[in-house]
This record gives sequence, C-alpha cells and structure tokens, in this order.
Amino acid sequence: MPSTYKILYDKDYADSFKEADAFALDVLVGLSTPRKKIPSKYFYDEKGSRLFRQITEQPEYYLTNCELEIIDHHKEATARYVDYGPFNLVELGAGFSKKTIALLEYFAESKLDFQYVPIDISEPAMRSLVQSLDSRFPAMEVNGLVTDYFNGLKWLNNRYKRRNLVLFLGSTIGNFTHAEGCVFLRNVWNCLNHDDVVLLGFDLKKDIELLLRAYNDARGVTREFNLNLLHRINRELGGQFDVTKFRHFGTYNVFSGGIESYLVSLEKQSVFIEMIGRSFSFEAWEPIHMEYSYKYLISDIEQLAGETGFEIYEHLYDSRRFFMDSIWRVYKPESVQKTLEKSRRGVRSTVL
Ligand code: AVI
Repeated sequence: MPSTYKILYDKDYADSFKEADAFALDVLVGLSTPRKKIPSKYFYDEKGSRLFRQITEQPEYYLTNCELEIIDHHKEATARYVDYGPFNLVELGAGFSKKTIALLEYFAESKLDFQYVPIDISEPAMRSLVQSLDSRFPAMEVNGLVTDYFNGLKWLNNRYKRRNLVLFLGSTIGNFTHAEGCVFLRNVWNCLNHDDVVLLGFDLKKDIELLLRAYNDARGVTREFNLNLLHRINRELGGQFDVTKFRHFGTYNVFSGGIESYLVSLEKQSVFIEMIGRSFSFEAWEPIHMEYSYKYLISDIEQLAGETGFEIYEHLYDSRRFFMDSIWRVYKPESVQKTLEKSRRGVRSTVL
C-alpha cells in the first residue's frame, strides 16, 4: 500500500482536548511543584466573574474608578488617534464595563466610523455582552469574536484593512510576570500593523497601605474570590477541598512590585481530586500561590513598551495619579514590514 500522510488542522482535534482537561492538567502541575500554585486565569468561572465585579465595587479597590475617571476625561484625546477613517475598536476581554460604555457612547455620539470587536474565549460571556450592547446601542456595529486574543486579532487583520485601536484595560497586564507580559505584548504587536494603536491600563506603585487594602477588602470579597477557585476545583474536577481549612493572604512584595495572593493551609491535610485521580498533601501553614498583581513605575511601563516594539504616544492619569492608561503605537520599521509581508506570502523568513 502506498504511504500517505495527513495534515491535522485545528478543527480536526479541537474537540479532543476539553477545557476541563487543561484545567486538571494545570492543577496537577501546579499542586505537584514544591511551591504550590494555581494559575489565576481559572478564577473567572461564572461565580468568579461575579465576585470580580463585586470586588470592583468595593471602596478599597480604587483601580476601576480611577480608570473610569481617566477614560471619561480623556475620551476626546483617545478619539484623536483614530478619528480619520474607519477603524476597529478591539477589546481584549468581554466585560460589560462602565469604562468601555463611556468610550463607546462618546465614539457613537462623535459619529466615528468604527465597529466594536470584543474578543473573548468564553461564549456565555460574549453572548451576554452582545445582548446588552444590542439593547444599549441598537445602531452600533458590534462583532464579537469567541476565540483567543491572538487568533482573533489575526483573523480581524486578514479580513479588514483598517486601523485597529486595541483596549486592554483594568491592569490585567499586571497579572502576568514580566516575562509573560513581554511575550503577551510581543504577540499583540505581531498580530497588528504598523501605526495601530493600543491602550493599556497599568496600576501604578503607590502607598503600600492602599495597595494592601485593595486586595484585603473589609467585606472579604477578595477572600471569597480566591477561595472560589478551590470551590471550582471541587465542582468541576471532583475535588474534596474543605475551604474552611484555608485562609486568604494578600501581601505586597516591595522588591518585585507585586501584590501576591495566597491561600494558606491552616492544618496538615490531604485533598483528593477525583478527575486527577490522586491526593495532594499540605503541611500546616503551607501556601498555594494564587495570583500576582504587579504595580508599575512610569519607567517600568516605558521600558516594557520599548522592549516589545511599541512607541509611546501618551500617558493618561487619574486626578490622584494612582492609575495610568498608556497609549502606544505599533512601530514596525519598513524592513520588518517587508519581511513580515514575505512570510505572510509563504516565503520563509524569521522575525523575532
Ligand atoms: C483582573 N485583575 C487586574 C485584578 C487585579 O487587580 O489583579 C484581579 C483581582 N484580584 C484580586 N482583586 C482583583
């Protein structure tokens, strides 16, 4: 029989690796390392997303109101970067936030020619966002993409030859380590064209007491948010965590500039997780690392832009200078643009 081969495309195996498998694998790897950890991206199931929205309403969690103030005061300045032709207003994430609404309202009132393209991996989140937008802005062109950010950006770029203004709000970048943040931003850069614009939210370094309060709110919503991830393991992976045997601990590392969130085991215990088929043992006072929320100096932000191929257009601040929305331009020198064009057409080349 003649030999053959088959190229497997994404669609051929998309069904074979379920989300729950990835979650189980990440929990297995995270709880098997000497310094236990669970990736913070798993916070956002339905309950976790609800708890996060509640966090943003706590008086101690200043980040959301600061960014709302920035967007509200600087929507005109933001519009100036895109007001001369049709463009895509892309949002990485599909939260129906007051911040985005303020911008959408202003862009619509100013009769700017744009479509709003939220990109999110979660279909339920996208469905509810699109429904809410439909009733709030019936005349607005909204085309959500349910996929990961980079596939979404690439697809959009192949389909529409327009300028992109990409929003990545809320200091979500702060949940990445420096190395992860660089990879993320370089990937965004790769998916965009020269002169495209990104608007990134950064929480700035400030009084440590304020930082600590923001991540240890008096009503204990952040504590619930953290513990929900153990509940999620119980619900989705058949875990047997007794969450009363763990306490939330949020601290600030002055050296790295990160709020670090932990769940600390209050006693020696062993926890079975059915879908993983094994138990994990915890010593008394042993922590699980749950999340980093990095805070930035202006120089950190400028260095990050330079390292990942962006030029800074403008920094926008709230009145207390707690938070910054930084507007960057994608910079691709002509030689890089030519190389990228060639590689798009299938000519082999490498752009690092
Ligand atoms: C989504 N992210 C920017 C939030 C933060 O501030 O790091 C998540 C959060 N974790 C605890 N509180 C809020």
